Amino acid sequence: MRAQQARQLYLEHKPYQGDALDRHCQRLAAFTLLQAELNGVELDPDFVAATTWLHDIGLLVKLEGTRNYLDRGLRFVEPLVDSWGLPDHQRRVFEEMMLYNHAARPVQGVCEEAELMRRAVQVEHSFGVVTHGLDRARVREVFGQHPRRGLTPVLLDFGRITVLHDGPGQLWHIFRPKLRDSPAAS
Ligand SMILES: [Fe+2]
Repeated sequence: MRAQQARQLYLEHKPYQGDALDRHCQRLAAFTLLQAELNGVELDPDFVAATTWLHDIGLLVKLEGTRNYLDRGLRFVEPLVDSWGLPDHQRRVFEEMMLYNHAARPVQGVCEEAELMRRAVQVEHSFGVVTHGLDRARVREVFGQHPRRGLTPVLLDFGRITVLHDGPGQLWHIFRPKLRDSPAAS
């Protein structure tokens, strides 16, 4: 149910033709769930899918007064997420998944679930070279189910937005954030 609502919001704001970005979100959900299974962490697939549909939405929307796409995304989805009435811990998991998924290294103090999504992002962006312990055959299977074709132009556009709109100084906050290193949350 949440995943459906999140997907709807994502589709309403996606400016790109085709489904390359959709498949990116689907792979990320799959890798996050595989990481959860590997690490014995309980994660609701619907919640994970909802989060991954929304994780890049800050790159798709405009919103004044936000520092970078991570806090822009979190701020943008706030009304929807409020309507879900998540328990405190799950709300924290959601916010930390949104804010820290692109960190290059584990962020001290971030909840385990968000750390698993951060690892999933690295599996995705390394084309499965980095697995963080996942079985390579299963990683290949995910890339087979949701092929990566067509994603590169979208990622180049994401890079353009990050550098030109948010500014190169924001790269530090995206790749090397500290806990709650965001005006949206501080
Ligand atoms: Fe992404």
